[in-house]
Amino acid sequence: MSEFSTAQVHAGEARDAAHGARVTPIYLTAGFEFDSFAQAEGRFGGAEPGYTYSRSGNPTTAALERRVAALERGREAIAVGSGQAALTVALLGLVQAGDHILSAQSVYSGTRGLFENGLRRLGVEIEFVDDPADLAEWRRRIRPTTRVLFGESIANPGTEILDIAGVATVAHENGIPFVVDNTLATPYLLRPGDHGADIVVHSASKYLGGHGSTLGGLVVDQGSYDWAASPFAHLTGPDEWLDGASYVDVHGAAAYTAFTRSVVASLFGPVLSPLNAFLIQQGIETLSLRVQRQSDTALAVARWLEAQPEVSGVDYAGLPSHPSHPLAQRYLTRGQGAVLGFTLSGGAAAAERFYDAVELFSRMTHIGDVRSLILHPASTTHAHLPREVREGTGIGPGLLRLSIGLEDPDDLIADLARGIAAVAATDVVVSDAAAEPIPAALAATAGR
Ligand SMILES: Cc1ncc(COP(=O)(O)O)c(C=O)c1O
Repeated sequence: MSEFSTAQVHAGEARDAAHGARVTPIYLTAGFEFDSFAQAEGRFGGAEPGYTYSRSGNPTTAALERRVAALERGREAIAVGSGQAALTVALLGLVQAGDHILSAQSVYSGTRGLFENGLRRLGVEIEFVDDPADLAEWRRRIRPTTRVLFGESIANPGTEILDIAGVATVAHENGIPFVVDNTLATPYLLRPGDHGADIVVHSASKYLGGHGSTLGGLVVDQGSYDWAASPFAHLTGPDEWLDGASYVDVHGAAAYTAFTRSVVASLFGPVLSPLNAFLIQQGIETLSLRVQRQSDTALAVARWLEAQPEVSGVDYAGLPSHPSHPLAQRYLTRGQGAVLGFTLSGGAAAAERFYDAVELFSRMTHIGDVRSLILHPASTTHAHLPREVREGTGIGPGLLRLSIGLEDPDDLIADLARGIAAVAATDVVVSDAAAEPIPAALAATAGR
């Protein structure tokens, strides 16, 4: 199944031989019954294929894993309960205390929180590359303890495009796996594995599920990294559970997924409900149609916003004015995704007026929905960050982020025009937009 739209409806499905149900059934069960003592022993020991308990594996979830692995052209996928769980599981399958993760500066705020508040407390060192387009900076910051290079294919919310092939080269020169969060691009727009990423991570809560109803996440091992030759002693060294053999000895090229599934995902336990696996799989069946339409509309919206005098800048890599435009032309030929940011020159006061004036856009934190959404990052998702860090990652007081849905483009632009009219109608006086405080009304709503 080489064509994407064919694979998205057929790859990995579990046909129901007993009843002929055409859609992969929802196996909503905690555990699986054994026919005999011998079968139970065989399933637990791995000698007999089959399921034991849904925290370690489930047929509906496995069908989703096969489908996403196929769409990313990866070796194997592990599905978990959210995008955050996918990042946590992917990284804990690699790092331990004393190891160092090198990440692009511009990443989703929850990922930054996981790095700085979660993993750092466990003794993992985190460092950010200020200019991810500068390969020399990635090279310069690698330490003997660096075990992961990390970035987002399209960064949330700045929409900077990662030079995946360039960073992969730096990673591989140093024998380090390269982990890429492909949530905003989806495998329809970009397959990071085609350009050298070794592990691809998704929040399936966004475009894969696509309908704003379900949380989920996936970790895909692309099969490109040589685990046998790696510095990961938990994969290459003797393991008690494997009678003194190593994960590489027993599982070969599947060593990372075998360890990450059985030790990290299963024992830390951020499991995906089979019901959510079903819903995400159903969402994937229309992925290419939705993402193409959403990207096309986002480009039209970005062009319209760029022409408004009240707007001082638009962050969308599909526009020639965006610094990542050359990378977008190289990596994102079908479209540049459906998330974009724009800055009102009137600063936070203008952003508040705009935000309160729209009627069709939903005011909420999320992306990838069929509905269009609007967010003021500086007062909500990024409010907890020190101002220098926030503004260093491009989150100014006048920035609004949009996630474009499937509504008619003319209706969306008419709604944005309502926001612009609200800004234009008010005499917003700005002496220094960058230094302007966030209004109390907005600051009060700030969350993580
Ligand atoms: C790029 C990216 N990665 C990961 C996540 C976390 O996903 P989830 O909300 O499913 O935990 C998000 C959420 O917005 C995201 O935008």
